[in-house]
Amino acid sequence: MENELINIKNNAVSLILDAKDPDELEHIKLQFLGKSGQLTLVIKRLPKINPEKRREVGILANEVKESIESAIIEQEVRIKNQELGKRIKKIDVTDPGIRPPLGHLHLITQAIWEITSIFEKIGFGRVRYPEVEWDWYPFGALNFSENHPARDDWETFFIDAPPHPKYGPMLLTPHTSNGQIREMEKGKLPIKMLNIARCYRRQSDVSHTPMFHQFEGLAVNTSLSISNLKGVLEYFVKTYFGEERKSRIRPYHFEFTEPSFEVDVTCGVCLGRGCKLCKEGWLELGGAGMVHPQVLRNCKIDPEKHNGFAFGWGVERVLMMKEGIEIDDLRLLYSNKLEFLEQF
Ligand code: PHE
Repeated sequence: MENELINIKNNAVSLILDAKDPDELEHIKLQFLGKSGQLTLVIKRLPKINPEKRREVGILANEVKESIESAIIEQEVRIKNQELGKRIKKIDVTDPGIRPPLGHLHLITQAIWEITSIFEKIGFGRVRYPEVEWDWYPFGALNFSENHPARDDWETFFIDAPPHPKYGPMLLTPHTSNGQIREMEKGKLPIKMLNIARCYRRQSDVSHTPMFHQFEGLAVNTSLSISNLKGVLEYFVKTYFGEERKSRIRPYHFEFTEPSFEVDVTCGVCLGRGCKLCKEGWLELGGAGMVHPQVLRNCKIDPEKHNGFAFGWGVERVLMMKEGIEIDDLRLLYSNKLEFLEQF
């Protein structure tokens, strides 16, 4: 009978360990411990055996019963854990991570940084001045007459605010030349500044945006000449556009420079020979000139002792003129379309 009990235990335990789900376990439990289970039947036979052996076999039968019961409980826990493990998605720590999309600087910011570094190499330091200004800085101090068309609200954005008693109405800077006045009124000479800022004008078409950027250079010292101005712009043109490009100055008119010039660069496509894009071989870059004596006086600088030159060009414009970059509609620059911006 002892052997029978040991066999029952071994059979039961090996079946229990193979059980795959709680139903199967329940079935095994009945098979051994149920009313007519294998172990139950053996225990029922106990009273019939030799009384000397009865006690010993009884203890063994109890041990077998306990072993089977605890094997069932352990297997139940194991099955539960396995099911839980299947539900939790496996994490492979060696998998490559999910990269967040990487942006880059806006095309115009890249150009601003490049222009800044070109001028810094010859001593023009970048400055920032207000882009919401009083009339005096972009107009009055720069010799604009009272009825100049640029002061019309069809040209310039005015802010709905009470005018300054001395400096006039508040407006959005239509050019960066307010920086000249802001810099000179500080009274620190000599000056070599580069003012890069946003400008605002009432214009919007394929080649104009209501907001754009200019970079404005100003040098004031004791004996500057047009040659110095020409040298600086020749240096910029060659460094920014390339050695093969040439520049020229043409007489022009600005209220705040005398003499005034317009600066041209040879076309990047035909290099000055003349083509469909440029016609005559030259592309217009922007304005420049020697600072008007009255402008110096407006900033308490004596034109008998000091003079200067200034230039102001559009960032978007020079960028477009740089070989290889063609933008059909300038407004795309500020439309925040990623498909467009990601190209640069
Ligand atoms: N401010 C002028 C413009 O917007 C450009 C300029 C700057 C001309 C400095 C002369 C000197 O057109």
